[in-house]
Amino acid sequence: MKSIIIHGSMRDSRVIIGEDIGNIGKYLPRADVIVITDKDVYRNYSQVMPTDKVIRIGTGEKIKNLDTVAYIFKELIRMEADRTVFILGFGGGIVCDIAGFVASIYLRGVRFGFVSTTLLSQADAGVGGKNGVNFEGYKNMIGTFNQPDFIICDPALLETLPEKQIRNGCAEIVKHAAIADKRLFAYLEAHYKEILKLKRDVIEKIVYESVMIKSGVVNLDEKEKGERRRLNFGHTIGHAIEKVTGLTHGEAISAGMCAAARISEKKGILSGKDRARLERILGNMKLPTRISADMKTIFKAMIKDKKREGDSIHFVLLNGIGDVVIEKISIKELEGLLMD
Ligand SMILES: NC(=O)c1ccc[n+]([C@@H]2O[C@H](COP(=O)([O-])OP(=O)(O)OC[C@H]3O[C@@H](n4cnc5c(N)ncnc54)[C@H](O)[C@@H]3O)[C@@H](O)[C@H]2O)c1
Repeated sequence: MKSIIIHGSMRDSRVIIGEDIGNIGKYLPRADVIVITDKDVYRNYSQVMPTDKVIRIGTGEKIKNLDTVAYIFKELIRMEADRTVFILGFGGGIVCDIAGFVASIYLRGVRFGFVSTTLLSQADAGVGGKNGVNFEGYKNMIGTFNQPDFIICDPALLETLPEKQIRNGCAEIVKHAAIADKRLFAYLEAHYKEILKLKRDVIEKIVYESVMIKSGVVNLDEKEKGERRRLNFGHTIGHAIEKVTGLTHGEAISAGMCAAARISEKKGILSGKDRARLERILGNMKLPTRISADMKTIFKAMIKDKKREGDSIHFVLLNGIGDVVIEKISIKELEGLLMD
């Protein structure tokens, strides 16, 4: 078992990798605990949840909205949750994003923690303190920066994940390697078959390395003023792909990273060899590297991105495996690069 600390502006957050869910009691405060989970996770894991006070939500990106938040508030009020309540988000990235947001604003904020049950959530979404929901077609438009007390990552919980969800997690792990760690990238190239088979020591290693990369960035720039933008590699186009095509987050980010890599190559900062390496590892992980959707529609969705600033956007370009640069690109230039 390994721990990584994230130093948030309001509190520190501890990511515990390789911990057994049976030990959850060690991390919970002496408080009224209420679990927020989704119906699929509840079906698989209700027996290991530390309380029978459970609020269940649906699944899928469509439920990540203010209606679900309002439903949870009503349930919390019905359960008479006061300021001493501890909210435990128990699920994948959607549950963690919503539970963290609810806990950040219910009664002006109550304490919370996560049990991450998807590979994507263990390696990325559960970590870093970004919480929130989508609004009117804008991804993660309403939210907070607020760190959970802890994030428990038990690899055994991943055994019930459908393979598609394992692949989704791989996309964000490839992203972390691509932006910051060429050795991890080479490890992924050599071990992708074991990863897809969920070999425990390999999974623990890549989750740990991923969280190390993300926490290092978040410790420098929790509120995304500069450094944290690196984590958005593939996300500007990826979020638009996710919205337009209905692909899962990980699949859309995979295609988004490949599109960003092609743009980086066109701008002369990435070699064709490194672009091909990125496409190859994602393809080997059975993730999409190109999509058939109309690029004009993707572009229209992309310029609605909340990271847009006036007529330009901070775009993350790949500078080589393990290195990125952030360039302010005009919307017009980006349109040309995308359509070309
Ligand atoms: N906050 C952040 O920094 C951050 C970073 C990356 C992604 N995200 C967000 O994360 C979300 C995607 O998260 P995700 O990929 O974890 O998807 P998810 O939360 O939708 O989970 C995927 C599916 O797997 C099921 N599931 C979860 N755990 C399971 C288990 N152990 N066994 C069986 N089934 C299980 C869920 O019920 C769901 O149907 C997106 O909304 C994305 O925007 C947030």
